[in-house]
Amino acid sequence: MLIRYKKAFEKIAMGLLSFMPNEKDIKKLQQTIKLYENEENWQLFLWKADDDLVGLIGVLFNDDLVEIQHISVNPSHRHQGIGKNMLKSLKQIYEGKTFKPNEYTASFCENCDFEDMDG
Ligand SMILES: CC(C)(COP(=O)(O)OP(=O)(O)OC[C@H]1O[C@@H](n2cnc3c(N)ncnc32)[C@H](O)[C@@H]1OP(=O)(O)O)[C@@H](O)C(=O)NCCC(=O)NCCS
Repeated sequence: MLIRYKKAFEKIAMGLLSFMPNEKDIKKLQQTIKLYENEENWQLFLWKADDDLVGLIGVLFNDDLVEIQHISVNPSHRHQGIGKNMLKSLKQIYEGKTFKPNEYTASFCENCDFEDMDG
């Protein structure tokens, strides 16, 4: 289940974000989290499985365009379809919008046939 980020999830969200190849630097990580906390068009979600937060997906949206900026799953929970399920759930949340990956999420999104995926 995809749930919206809130401040209480900051530590776990930073841990998950740090698996992104472009978020290895702690200063960059802190800046990114601040953007998700403060900017209205930066939206962050976490994937809850049982009682654990094991995945993260973050988008930047402008008008009708939703750009997938970050996607990450806890290494112990990978290869179970969570990444793909997060993309599907996101499409339901932003129904009717146009989605596109950025350079850091393109390889996974394309592997999932994201463009053709139903919400
Ligand atoms: C990418 C990621 C979110 C996938 O999460 P997941 O829950 O394992 O994804 P799913 O189970 O839905 O799909 C798994 C499939 O995705 C593919 N995949 C994994 N990482 C990939 C990547 N970086 N690029 C393209 N495809 C990838 C594999 O083919 C994998 O297939 P397998 O299970 O048969 O090995 C996870 O590997 C991760 O957190 N990686 C580190 C963060 C990162 O690099 N994010 C950007 C990815 S472009």
